[in-house]
Amino acid sequence: MILGIESSCDETGVALYGVHQGLIGHQLHTQVDMHRAYGGVVPELASRDHIRRIVVLTENLLAECGHSLDSIDAIAVTAGPGLGGALLTGTSMAAGLGLALDVPVWPIHHLDGHLLSPLMGADTPEMPFVALLVSGGHTQLMAVRGVGHYELLGETLDDAAGEAFDKTASLLGLGYPGGAALSQLARTGNPMRFTLPRPMIRSGDLEFSFSGLKTAVLTEVRALEAAGQFDAAVRADLAASFEAAVIDVLSAKCGAALRKTGMRALVVAGGVGANVRLRAVLERSMRALGARVHFPPQALCTDNGAMIAHAAALAYQAGLLDRSSRSDSFGVRPRWPLAGSRTTT
Ligand code: KG4
Ligand code: ZN
Repeated sequence: MILGIESSCDETGVALYGVHQGLIGHQLHTQVDMHRAYGGVVPELASRDHIRRIVVLTENLLAECGHSLDSIDAIAVTAGPGLGGALLTGTSMAAGLGLALDVPVWPIHHLDGHLLSPLMGADTPEMPFVALLVSGGHTQLMAVRGVGHYELLGETLDDAAGEAFDKTASLLGLGYPGGAALSQLARTGNPMRFTLPRPMIRSGDLEFSFSGLKTAVLTEVRALEAAGQFDAAVRADLAASFEAAVIDVLSAKCGAALRKTGMRALVVAGGVGANVRLRAVLERSMRALGARVHFPPQALCTDNGAMIAHAAALAYQAGLLDRSSRSDSFGVRPRWPLAGSRTTT
């Protein structure tokens, strides 16, 4: 029985995962409301809030699942990448509990959690697969050949896809984080109204760039404002045109990654994976390539403790972690490349 702890950014997540039973339960607290007033995550506030929540969430989790601390055989904790102080909250909790319970503490890579999270769904992909990680901090294509065997195929050279959604949402006067709100607004808009760039769509590699797209939206917004035309209908059209541009690029690069690797399955993980239109377009375009696309359960798209415990369970089953593997400190790795690194340190 593994206790999973996630505190790398603005979500405090804990979960109980049985290596044979699967997910037993999870608890999540999101700090989105707290950070909204600042238009982004304030690292120091994030760490303090994790401290306030993490013990209570763990107690609630155990009570809800009908377990006690004695049930825990190992602790899996996000050790990076993420905000240093926020990560330290989770690793300190894990180190303390590990010492008190005399159980191993396993440092887990946050993206390992996201990457493998579709395997928790009902429709699980077979390895090998190509994974598209699209979150507020990352846009990467990875070849996943086995648990812990990852090859970085390409990534963003500047903004992450989620970051582009958030910045564009802010230009359109939507709150933070604006990805979901922008997508909601886009439903009523015309995606053909504005011709926005599809950055690097024909670059011949698997790299991405989204900062120019945000600038293109900014240019349109300024022109529309100057012309007194920046009304609700135009905003919806701009949202739809922006969303279509991002999805076109993501879909084209996913297709190119499948062709390059010869793999037949695509897995989409990270917060932007919750985007309904992205899901629909990828389903269609991957089917046309004779490939299947898999998504994590909608509730586990954003950061959570379940994906961390789950990644640890798979690494344990693959022999990458064992009862003697312990973290000897509560060291964190705010910057920690995934490819080539095993989840253990
Ligand atoms: O994976 P995640 O919860 O946190 C990070 O590790 O970054 O991803 C959050 C990102 C935010 O940028 C948010 O705006 C975006 O995912 N997001 C969406 C949608 N829901 C969340 N972007 C587009 N469409 C959505 N429906
Ligand atoms: Zn994440």
